[in-house]
Amino acid sequence: MSATIKLENKHFPVLLKELISIISPLYGGTFLDCTFGQGGYSKKILEKKINKVIAIDRDQDVYLYAKELEKKYNNRFHFQNIKFSEINRIEIKSNDLKAIIFDLGYSINQIKDLNRGLSFKSKGKLNMKMGINNFSCHEVISNMSETNLYKIFKYYGDEKYSKKIARKIVETRKTKIINTEDLIKIVDSTKRFKYSKINNSTKIFQALRIFVNKEISELINGLINAFYLIPVGGIIAVVTFHSIEDKIVKFFFKNYSEIKNSSRYVPIREDNIRCFNLQNKKPITPSSEEIKLNPPSRSAKLRFAVKIKNECNFEEFINKFKELTDIEDLQFDK
Ligand SMILES: C[S@@+](CC[C@H](N)C(=O)[O-])C[C@H]1O[C@@H](n2cnc3c(N)ncnc32)[C@H](O)[C@@H]1O
Repeated sequence: MSATIKLENKHFPVLLKELISIISPLYGGTFLDCTFGQGGYSKKILEKKINKVIAIDRDQDVYLYAKELEKKYNNRFHFQNIKFSEINRIEIKSNDLKAIIFDLGYSINQIKDLNRGLSFKSKGKLNMKMGINNFSCHEVISNMSETNLYKIFKYYGDEKYSKKIARKIVETRKTKIINTEDLIKIVDSTKRFKYSKINNSTKIFQALRIFVNKEISELINGLINAFYLIPVGGIIAVVTFHSIEDKIVKFFFKNYSEIKNSSRYVPIREDNIRCFNLQNKKPITPSSEEIKLNPPSRSAKLRFAVKIKNECNFEEFINKFKELTDIEDLQFDK
């Protein structure tokens, strides 16, 4: 367990009131919290004595918070250290499950843990691992070819200077091991005269975090598994923080909520029958009060839907984002 975890690093659960009001009509059952973090959502659900929570997180550092809840709520709360792409492994009485929730992104502990190298204040060896990873950012920066680095920056960061930055990384690593400060310097020097409100390295850090943690396939498989785990009538709710995540979640709910019938004279095909009931087409976003209290919440979007059918063909969903999941298969070529 990381020694840098401090209980005073309190995570503000984003859109908590809104999320609880969405799942509250269904109170009295089991809820699956796929991104436990400091347990902000889990705690709120457990306040009602009739509820049970199963929580998971890929980061084993959150045991500290999970243990507190296990002690307080005994058999109403269970925690597992797994990734949400693996929720199909959870032994659960599916019929009791009322909602599955995802609060994507990073907890304040992970951001403030400078050893993880997720923030621009980090120093030393590049890391960026959220937990249960196959490799770290250090291996990516040290071993990926210029072309592969370029693809990661372009597809996962939409970084305009992807090519120049990739070239500079490959040039620099011939003479030294690139650490977190070096990476920031490389990006700054590439964008020397490009002033912007956001940190120069924001997009490069986002791209590397997504790659190291395989966030795209995690989300796609997590959503599909959630569909098969939740019974008809149950809710899937997701809070996203960046545009790639939101595009995936929006497509998942919207595409499978609409009846796509090209002509009213053609009979509706079996696989065109809706899988979800989508009440809000637009995402729910934080109020100005919440943003004032917790500025990072400004990019949060909450989308949710009710499952209305047992089977669904997700081929179109998987194919739609194949270009992004293919990037995860890029090999270290040095
Ligand atoms: C924004 S925090 C959640 C905060 C939480 N809702 C709260 O109120 O404290 C996101 C958490 O999700 C976890 N996480 C991210 N991706 C995951 C994945 N694929 N599987 C399991 N946990 C994941 C992170 O480790 C992090 O602890």
